[in-house]
Amino acid sequence: MRVLFVASEVYPLVKTGGLADVVGALPLALAELGVDVRVLVPGYPKVLAGLQTRGREVDLHGLVGGGPAKLMYGRVGRLELLVLDAPHLYNRPGNPYVDEHGRDFGDNHLRFGALCDAAVWLAGPEGGQRWRPDLIHGHDWQAGLVPAYVAMMPPQQRVATVTTIHNLAYQGVFRSEAMGALRLPASMFDIHGVEFHGHLGFLKAGLWYSDKITTVSPTYASQIQTETYGHGLHGLLRRRDADLYGILNGIDTAVWDPATDAHLPAPYSVDDLAGKRHGKRALQLELGLHPDPDAPLFVVVSRLVTMKGLDLLLSAGRSILERGGQLAVLGSGEERLVEGFQQAARLNPGRVAYRGGYDEPLAHRMQAGGDAIIIPSRTEPCGLTQLYGLRYGTVPVVRRTGGLADSVVDTTPESLSAGQATGVLFNDIDASALAWALGRTIALYHNRPVWQQIVRNGMQQDFSWRRSAARYLDLYRRALSR
Ligand code: ADP
Ligand code: GLC
Repeated sequence: MRVLFVASEVYPLVKTGGLADVVGALPLALAELGVDVRVLVPGYPKVLAGLQTRGREVDLHGLVGGGPAKLMYGRVGRLELLVLDAPHLYNRPGNPYVDEHGRDFGDNHLRFGALCDAAVWLAGPEGGQRWRPDLIHGHDWQAGLVPAYVAMMPPQQRVATVTTIHNLAYQGVFRSEAMGALRLPASMFDIHGVEFHGHLGFLKAGLWYSDKITTVSPTYASQIQTETYGHGLHGLLRRRDADLYGILNGIDTAVWDPATDAHLPAPYSVDDLAGKRHGKRALQLELGLHPDPDAPLFVVVSRLVTMKGLDLLLSAGRSILERGGQLAVLGSGEERLVEGFQQAARLNPGRVAYRGGYDEPLAHRMQAGGDAIIIPSRTEPCGLTQLYGLRYGTVPVVRRTGGLADSVVDTTPESLSAGQATGVLFNDIDASALAWALGRTIALYHNRPVWQQIVRNGMQQDFSWRRSAARYLDLYRRALSR
């Protein structure tokens, strides 16, 4: 089976969040199951610079978005890539979505419309001569037009389509005038089509036209069918319930393994945690925290956005310090959150540290050096940092929502004696609920045998992609037999 992934990010070339991790790892797990997967991504400067092996190049004529464009076949590690090299669309400073001042690019509809057009070209008579996908698996709104373009093909050419929602909050909504430049027929501008409240919705299009829809955890799959979490698409998602699957993300256990992680000062494993103690001390020294082995060290590795609930931590953080704990935050994003953590660090030297920017090696060292990782998300489709935390023996303290609820088991007398406790959960989106969870975590931390048990339970969980990749394969088969 040949499957084409279409996405705006892929680890290790370009990453702003968990999407890149998934798109960089799931294809490798599918390949182990015998699926021939290639990943189509835009040719941002970082992608072109990072390609390791370059193969064929094919000129694409008349692609959406105009301008000269070509497809490059290449690899990074074991990942087979197809890169859409269109300098007028992608050769710019900034990240995949915004310019260097943080403003959305004004032509994002064309930048990602072109990506979708190129994907569908690969399924057509010309593009498909060498390698034609049987199925196109699009990720998030950036790939949303793929199923719409497939629906415009002659029936005998239509490939199967799957759309995965990594985050329903980002939908790619544009003015209806964009229809023409994207070569979408006016007839598709309909509630039974690409229209979303008088606008053109990329994700809406994907959800309407895809054969199958997935999202990244079972709990989020039911949440998004409700008004609270549905972002205006819950009606459509409910209607498509029979085709909607929640499949929990896995993690790349080659990239995230404390026993072999080259970013760590000392490796460790569930059988020998000495390296973790060493990593904690090294992290404290690196971040200017008091090198106190007995102070519970809480870490955060996150985009600093409202969705992640870190404003709650700004209010509740005091409950860590009052109990002798420390807090280290790595993340960039909204100014008020950045300023809040900067100020907390200034006011509490040696006890609170903040690092901005994006730093992959430091993210690994924080997972290794922390005692607990805080993820108080308002919404969390899946979340990967709690999975990394579990594997690194860093106990997740999380709100009970989405994939957090599906991957962390709260510590109670029952879950402890069943050997299942792996973290601490709280329910309400409010600072006192988080403060209560943090207090509970510190009490557990000081009960050493219990804490060791929780750490070990977490490290022994299997969140590798193996199981979830098999579920995707099963879903692909269903999509193909439609
Ligand atoms: P989301 O995709 O919503 O941001 P996830 O938990 O799925 O949330 O994935 C976040 C990913 O981004 C993880 O791999 C995490 O380690 C990484 N990450 C987030 N912020 C930073 C940062 N400032 N530096 C390095 N890695 C980061
Ligand atoms: C999104 C979600 C996150 C998820 C990631 C990968 O960015 O916000 O919860 O883990 O995608 O699927």
